[in-house]
Amino acid sequence: MAKKKTEKVVNRLVIIGMGLIGSSLAAAVRERNIAKEVIGISRRKSTLEIALNNGIVDRCADDLVEVASELSSGDVVVIGVPTLSVPEVLKQCVELLSPEVTITDVASVKESVVIAAQELFGEVPSQLVPGHPIAGSEKSGVTAANSELFIDHRVILTPVESTSEDHLKRTSALWQNVGAMVSTMTVQEHDQILAATSHLPHFLAYSLVDTLAGMNEKTDIFRYAAGGFRDFTRIAASDPIMWRDIAVANKKAVIEVMDKVMDNLVSLRSLIENTEEDKLTAMFKRARDARNHFGSMLESNKLDTGLQSPMNEKVINYIVSPGGNARGDLRVPGDKSMSHRSIMLGSLADGMTEVTGFLEGEDSLATLQAFRDMGVEIEGPNEGRVVIRGVGLHGLKAPKKPLYLGNSGTSIRLLSGLLAGQAFDVELQGDTSLSGRPMGRVATPLRKMGAVIETEKDGTPPMRIKGGQKLKGINYRMPMASAQVKSCVLLAGLYAEGETTTVEPAPTRDHTERMLRGFGYQVDSNDDTASLNGGGRLTSTRINVPADISSAAFFMVAAAIVPGSDITLRHVGVNPTRIGVINILRQMGANIELFNPAQVGDEPVADIRVRYAPLKGIAIPEDQVPLAIDEFPVLFVAAACAEGKTILTGAEELRVKESDRIQSMADGLVTLGVDAVATDDGIHIEGGEIGSGEVESFDDHRIAMAFSIAALRANGPIIIKETNNVATSFPNFISLARQVGINIKLA
Ligand code: S3P
Repeated sequence: MAKKKTEKVVNRLVIIGMGLIGSSLAAAVRERNIAKEVIGISRRKSTLEIALNNGIVDRCADDLVEVASELSSGDVVVIGVPTLSVPEVLKQCVELLSPEVTITDVASVKESVVIAAQELFGEVPSQLVPGHPIAGSEKSGVTAANSELFIDHRVILTPVESTSEDHLKRTSALWQNVGAMVSTMTVQEHDQILAATSHLPHFLAYSLVDTLAGMNEKTDIFRYAAGGFRDFTRIAASDPIMWRDIAVANKKAVIEVMDKVMDNLVSLRSLIENTEEDKLTAMFKRARDARNHFGSMLESNKLDTGLQSPMNEKVINYIVSPGGNARGDLRVPGDKSMSHRSIMLGSLADGMTEVTGFLEGEDSLATLQAFRDMGVEIEGPNEGRVVIRGVGLHGLKAPKKPLYLGNSGTSIRLLSGLLAGQAFDVELQGDTSLSGRPMGRVATPLRKMGAVIETEKDGTPPMRIKGGQKLKGINYRMPMASAQVKSCVLLAGLYAEGETTTVEPAPTRDHTERMLRGFGYQVDSNDDTASLNGGGRLTSTRINVPADISSAAFFMVAAAIVPGSDITLRHVGVNPTRIGVINILRQMGANIELFNPAQVGDEPVADIRVRYAPLKGIAIPEDQVPLAIDEFPVLFVAAACAEGKTILTGAEELRVKESDRIQSMADGLVTLGVDAVATDDGIHIEGGEIGSGEVESFDDHRIAMAFSIAALRANGPIIIKETNNVATSFPNFISLARQVGINIKLA
C-alpha cells in the first residue's frame, strides 16, 4: 500500500474533467498531501460542488482561463476528459500555459492524442507527457471517486522524442506517489497492446450481446444464460460513449487484430461445419494452454511486455504471524532445473517424451511456451504430466515473435546456447528482473564458438541471436562456477563441429549432463570437466522429475528452527551437486535424516526428515557455496536463529541472482532487528531474536519465502511485500506452508 506522503511531488495539480479518473487522482493526491493545491475544472457546476463538498479538491474553476496565469514550473495539468475531447482541451492548455507547466492526459488511446498535438502545433510540445492509467471501475463520475484506485495498477506513459525529461519525471513521480506502477513504452506499442488486450475484448462482448439481443425477439434467451455468457459479456455493460471514442481513436490497431480474430472465427466455423474433431481439439488445446500460461502470469502480475490485460494485476503481499508449529509430511513441487531441461531435451529428441513431476511454475512454463512458440507440440502440463512430441535437433521453427522468458535466468541462458546453432534468428526477452541480469557470461563463450549474439551494451537482455552460423567446439574454462553457463555451452556443443569441453572452477549441478545421457547422448565428465561431440541425436525417453530440494529447503529450515517441529519431505532430489543445504544445516547442528533412497532415471532421490535441534553459527565452507547456491536466503534465516555468528564468504554470485540476494536479505534482516552485515562476497549474521516488521521481497521468490519462514521465530508478524514471484518456482507455497502450520495470510 502506498503510504501517506508529506513531500510535495508537484506544486499545483490542476485536473480538467472530474470523471472517475480525474476525481480519483485528485482525491488520492489530496489524501496523500502530495501537492500544494489541487484545483478541479469542470463545466458542470454540480460536479464541482460535489468535488468541493467531498474534500476531493482545494478549489474549483469552470474554465482553465481562470487559473492559467497562476501556473508555472512544478505545476501539473492533467487532461481527464474523454479520448476524443482531448485535442480541444490540449489546444487550450498549450495556448494558455507556460512551457514549464507539465501537461499530461489519461486517454485510453495515445496515437490520436499525439497526432492531434502534431497537427495543432507542428510538433508535440515538450511539456506534454501522454499517459494512460490502466485502472477503472464499472462506476463513473465524481461520486465514484476513489483515492485508492491507482494502488498497484499500472500507468503507461508514452513519451515521444520531443517530450522533456523533466516533465516526464514529474508525471511519473505523480503517479508513483498515488501508488501506481509506472511503465513507459512507445505510442504504437501502447495502442497495439491495448487494442488486443482491452479494446477488442470489449468490442467482441458488445457484438455478441448485440447479436443475441437481435435474435431475442420472441424468447427471452438471456434468462437461460449461464456462467459462460456472464463471464464473457460482463464488459459489455461499460460506458458506450467511452468505447465509441476508443473505437474511433484506435481504429487502425483495433481493425488489425479484429481481422485476425475474424479469420480465426472463419476457420473455427469451417472446422465445426466439417466436424473436424481432431483439429477442433488441437485448436482448443492450443488456446487453453496459452490461456493457462498467460493466466498464471495475469494473476501474479508478471508479464511486463506481453499480451496481458494489466487491469487484472494485483500485487500480493504476505502477512506471516509467529507461533506456527512446522509439523507434517509433504511433497514439494518438481525440481525447477530438471523441469526446464526436460522440455528442452524432450523437444530436441526424436520421438515422444513423457515427463511426470514437472514443475508447473512460471519459470518452467516460460520454457515450455518458448518451445511451443518454436512449433513443438506439447501436451499439458496436467498434474505434472507433460507429453512432448520431439522434433529432433534440427526441427525447431522460427518463432513469430521474440521468446518471452519471464523471470527465468535458466531459460534464457540455456536457450541462448541451443538457439545459437539454429538456422533462424531469434530474440530472447524477459521481465524487469531478468532484463537486468548479466548475459555476457554466456554470450562470451558462445561467440568463441562462432555464434553471433547481441545483447544490450551492458550485457543484459534482450539477446538477439543470428541464425545460420557454423559453430565449432571449444574448450571453455569457466571464470565462475555456474551450471547455467556450463549447460549453455554444452547445449551449443550439440550443434558444433568437433568436441566441446567445459572446465568449471568448482562443481555445479550436473542435471544437463545426466539428462543428456538419459536421452542417449554421450557426455564424458570427470572432476571439473564435461565434454561432448556435436552432431549426434537425442532419443526420446521418460523423465520423472523429483521434488525440488531448493523448495524443500524452506521447510527443512522451518523444522530446524522451531522447537517441537518434525517435517518429512518426500521424494526429494538429492543429487550430490545440490545437497549443500543439508551439509550446511547439519554442520550447524540440525537433525536431518535421509531415508528411502532410490534412483529415479539418472537422479538420486530420498525422503528427508528434519526435527528441531538447536543450531549454532558456523563459517560456511566455500566449497559448499555452489552446492547450496539457491538456498542461501533461507540459510540466512537459519543463521539468524542460531547461537553465535555465521560467516559466508566466496558467494559473490548471490549478487546477480533474481535480486542481489546478499543485500536483499541483509536489508530485511536488519529491518527485523537482526545483526546482519553484507560483505562483497557474503554476509556476517549474529544469531539472536527476530523482530516484527515490513520487508521487501525485491520481486525475488526466494527472498519472499525465506522471510515467511523467519516469521516462525519472530516476536510479531512479518509483512512481506510483493511476493507474486513466488509463483515462478513454488506455486503452491502458501497451501503447503499452511499445511505444516505456518500462519500465512495474503494482503
Ligand atoms: C541453475 C543454476 C544456478 C541456480 C539457478 C538454476 C540451473 O544458476 O542459481 O537457480 O538450473 O542451471 P547459476 O548457474 O547462475 O549459478
